[in-house]
Amino acid sequence: MRAAQSAHLLAPSEPACGGEADTGFMRYLGIDVGKKISRIGLGTWQFGSREWGYGDAYAGGEAHAVVRRALELGVTLFDTAELYGFGRSERILGQALGEDRETVFLATKIFPVVPVAPVVEQRAVASANRLGVQRLDLYQVHQPNPLVRDGTIMRGMLALQRVGLVGEVGVSNYSLQRWQAAEAALGGRVLSNQVRYNLADRSPERDLLPFAQAHGRVVIAYSPLAQGLLSGRYSRDSRPGNRVRAANPLFLPENLERAGELIAALRGVADAHAATPAQIALAWVLHHPAVVAIPGASSVGQLESNAAAAEIDLTDGEYQALQEASDRFRPIVGPAALPHLIRARLGR
Ligand SMILES: NC(=O)c1ccc[n+]([C@@H]2O[C@H](COP(=O)([O-])OP(=O)(O)OC[C@H]3O[C@@H](n4cnc5c(N)ncnc54)[C@H](OP(=O)(O)O)[C@@H]3O)[C@@H](O)[C@H]2O)c1
Repeated sequence: MRAAQSAHLLAPSEPACGGEADTGFMRYLGIDVGKKISRIGLGTWQFGSREWGYGDAYAGGEAHAVVRRALELGVTLFDTAELYGFGRSERILGQALGEDRETVFLATKIFPVVPVAPVVEQRAVASANRLGVQRLDLYQVHQPNPLVRDGTIMRGMLALQRVGLVGEVGVSNYSLQRWQAAEAALGGRVLSNQVRYNLADRSPERDLLPFAQAHGRVVIAYSPLAQGLLSGRYSRDSRPGNRVRAANPLFLPENLERAGELIAALRGVADAHAATPAQIALAWVLHHPAVVAIPGASSVGQLESNAAAAEIDLTDGEYQALQEASDRFRPIVGPAALPHLIRARLGR
């Protein structure tokens, strides 16, 4: 770590959106969008969504505390979506941010079921109302519509930008080709593409990261901890029990066993930094300058640990060792994982 050798030593609070490019241990993107974008953000799919199973006590209490602590630690990037808990996540986040809603960089997403301009405009207003803001700093298309190209949705986005309801436009789960096509349709910059990026899935390295770096765009890494796998907390004998991870092949007993070497490599680097495997997994994601990460958190402690990872600088040797351990991790995924998922579901 840069300033402190302890993973849990927290820097004094800084105002969310003022001051220098780096405050305390938080670091910010060097991109000018009028507000600072912290390199570690907060993902809020967990807020009020049944599939994570954190329950009402979390949605009504801990989630609020997580957001307030994130603000104290200099986190400015908050990610939600109209889909998460069918609007509950946006509501919980908006309430927890309170007056700070206007100073942070708030990102939400539209799920493009009917991707035509009037619907886009109406959905944006609904999201802004749930969040309690006048303006969505980043409005993202949650995933590409497989049947309809982006001309119509981007017409809606442009109209929203013109009236000031939307600052930046983003996409999510887009290929490079479709990201570029979305930019052409918008006639301007589509700032970011939010995609899965972690040591167990490095596909964005192929073309999204080089494009983002060369053109001043941003890759927002979701599931940067591979939904908790990279924390090293789970094993064949201790698997997480919620719907999200029951459907994620990475948490198959066979894959948890295969992940052992990668987790051991993370532990090795973590020991050298007095950090945790989860923090090193985040530091690895942030090693690329065009990336910001939005880990979710089930507790204030996790949020604190994740925010502190922003200051960890990996050496070239450490980065390389993690790349190699990741190369050797060959989980069962795709169609081959289906029978395993069914067997695991049936408890066999
Ligand atoms: N655009 C998209 O299609 C898309 C898809 C997925 C996610 N996202 C966004 O990305 C965000 C993050 O992705 P994600 O939630 O899928 O995965 P993630 O951030 O990799 O994993 C989050 C989970 O990891 C565990 N965790 C977090 N911090 C930890 C720490 N310091 N130590 C140990 N365990 C820790 C927690 O689960 P436990 O404590 O229960 O183990 C937490 O719920 C979401 O909230 C959402 O905003 C977007």
